[in-house]
Amino acid sequence: MTTTDRVVIFDTTLRDGEQSPGATMTHEEKLEIAEMLDDMGVDIIEAGFPIASEGDFNAVSEIARRSKDAVICGLSRANFKDIDRCWEAVKNAGKPRIHTFIGTSPLHRAIPNLTQDEMAERIHDTVTHARNLCDNVQWSPMDATRTEWDYLKRVVEIAIKAGASTINIPDTVGYTAPVESADLIRRLIAECEGGEDVIFATHCHNDLGMATANSLAAVEGGARQIECTINGLGERAGNTALEEVVMAMKTRSDIMPFHTNVDTTKIMAISRRVSTVSGFLVQPNKAIVGKNAFAHESGIHQDGMLKNRENFEIMRPEDIGLSGTSLPLGKHSGRAALRAKMDELGYDLGDNQLNDLFVRMKALADRKKEVFDEDLIALMRDEAADDQNEYLKVKRLRVVCGTDGPQEAELTLEIDGEDKSIDATGDGPVDATFNAVKMLFPHNARLELYQVHAVTQGTDAQATVSVRMNEEGRIATGQSADTDTVVASAKAYVNALNRLIVRREQTDVGYDEKDVSYKDV
Ligand code: KIV
Ligand code: ZN
Repeated sequence: MTTTDRVVIFDTTLRDGEQSPGATMTHEEKLEIAEMLDDMGVDIIEAGFPIASEGDFNAVSEIARRSKDAVICGLSRANFKDIDRCWEAVKNAGKPRIHTFIGTSPLHRAIPNLTQDEMAERIHDTVTHARNLCDNVQWSPMDATRTEWDYLKRVVEIAIKAGASTINIPDTVGYTAPVESADLIRRLIAECEGGEDVIFATHCHNDLGMATANSLAAVEGGARQIECTINGLGERAGNTALEEVVMAMKTRSDIMPFHTNVDTTKIMAISRRVSTVSGFLVQPNKAIVGKNAFAHESGIHQDGMLKNRENFEIMRPEDIGLSGTSLPLGKHSGRAALRAKMDELGYDLGDNQLNDLFVRMKALADRKKEVFDEDLIALMRDEAADDQNEYLKVKRLRVVCGTDGPQEAELTLEIDGEDKSIDATGDGPVDATFNAVKMLFPHNARLELYQVHAVTQGTDAQATVSVRMNEEGRIATGQSADTDTVVASAKAYVNALNRLIVRREQTDVGYDEKDVSYKDV
């Protein structure tokens, strides 16, 4: 028997997280992430915004159909058309939920140009409509933390009366602070008619770096649902990170007597997967899931750790799914060792996937002596990119470098099944290579980001390259890893172009998310 209060975890990686520029995921990737969230014990999955695009609608419907234990929720603005579309998408879930919202602060009220009374009526009508379709309705006053108290209280009471069973209080622009966050929830529960009969949720953005603290403070004030994303993915500075709030409540249950249903040993695997599919690398010093979160470099720390790990560790790496020891694989390692290692890293691979990875691992071991966990994760990222039906593929690359440039690149690309080659020059080998790609596949996309990270240490380390491209507002990211930085760069660039081609096709058939705006109600 547990004596602590249960906090419901509502994950919005696939909705608020996917909304961050460049984080767009494919249909299959969304299904995979939803399955991982369900398997790790997340209570509610906000799977998307069904009216936003045909792609979003299909993803939410399929996630609903495949759901196991989790409630599947879709987002809708405060109009009947959005709500009907949302219901269509979630209704096949074992446990469906409609989430409807409207901006209630003075700034947000001005956008649809509704008076306070008109908006109040709209809230009553839309929540009633949602409730007639679905037993489980969540309502959010967007920008709640900048809404006048009297008006916030009034509209929350209207939503409760109309049948919403969860009232979410979003800090849409990351403006609140912990004391205020706790007070607001406490006051809403105490002073709103019906406030004791519903669940209050907290939904924080991280603009001032306080999302985790604000969410936990809201729980202290009486909220029993935290809205969050894996790796803190989300618009601007992101949303509250799931791994942070869950591990904070687990680690400090002495002062935060709350528990969740999340199997924390699955955190690392989903963090890696979300990083891969979103193209958003996790910063090395990120709490809980950063590469250095459990690394102890300095001599004094290492000495302390050897004497007693609790000297410098407040959580055990095993609690989030990291193995305590990390033995590298090499040229002579067999399939069984690779399978055991991948299981340990949280990858559940089928036989064919394992065989493909084994071939790549051997090829890598020929080029670098030891293959570390990070190398295998990078190989998995590349494999995911290769798996997709790609229009463009890097077939051959040779660069000529010298101190007295320009550098030259000879590149062969497979374009829609046909090999095409060209020589190009540039200011450095990467520039020459990118120029060659552009000559073979002319496009207007702007390169917005080019980043290189060494996966492990040593001069034979693999480099992970991330790029972000922007073509008239369509954003796509690409990643690749190789012991040769220029090869990794070419593959990452081509990977981003392939994703951009998919985005173009979606736009051409009118699926573009830009068609809807939070400003319309
Ligand atoms: O941040 C926000 O206000 C939101 C709402 C749509 C709930 O994401
Ligand atoms: Zn949000």
